Amino acid sequence: MQSIIIFASGTGTNAAAIIAHFKKNPVARVSLIVSNNPNAGVLDIARREDIPFLIIDRATFRETLLIEQLKDYKPGLIVLAGFMWKVPEAIVHEFPGKIINIHPALLPAFGGKGMYGHHVHEAVIAAREKESGITIHYVNEFYDEGNILLQARCRVEANDNPDELASRIHRLEHFYYPRVIEYLLQSNS
Ligand code: GAR
Repeated sequence: MQSIIIFASGTGTNAAAIIAHFKKNPVARVSLIVSNNPNAGVLDIARREDIPFLIIDRATFRETLLIEQLKDYKPGLIVLAGFMWKVPEAIVHEFPGKIINIHPALLPAFGGKGMYGHHVHEAVIAAREKESGITIHYVNEFYDEGNILLQARCRVEANDNPDELASRIHRLEHFYYPRVIEYLLQSNS
């Protein structure tokens, strides 16, 4: 049974979809959730599901200590699911090829610093795009630039507001992210 560590900052609907997927699947379990936000909804999910969690704080956080804590869980994959910090380089280097992210648009468009959550959907609508989607990619030391594993597309309707687009994107995310994680873990083992 492999171990998945999730990093998340917000509501955690992706985390919930991943946890639910692997409850019915012998390949892996979510063994730890890491958040930079002590009020994140994802921590309620961790409590409800009885999954250990860590809260990290920019002022007091030490990379070397976090790396040791992560290693204790022997992660097959570290999965960013709405994690709003740039992952520190030391962590990227410690877990080569083992950190992936999901972005709510078709990278390289609408990516980079400041492009997260609703900001992305607002920018897509403002640019009058006909299509948006999701990108699942490896994490390297640059924002949203690691090798792409999967993209999936959806329509942007003429009168969409950011919430409507977000929920269409979330449906894609909840379907594809657990499946890509399962595929990667199976090809690692
Ligand atoms: C997701 O849509 C994810 O793609 C996005 O944050 C949302 C988190 O939702 N991530 C980024 O924007 C990263 N740049 P969730 O908390 O409900 O899973």
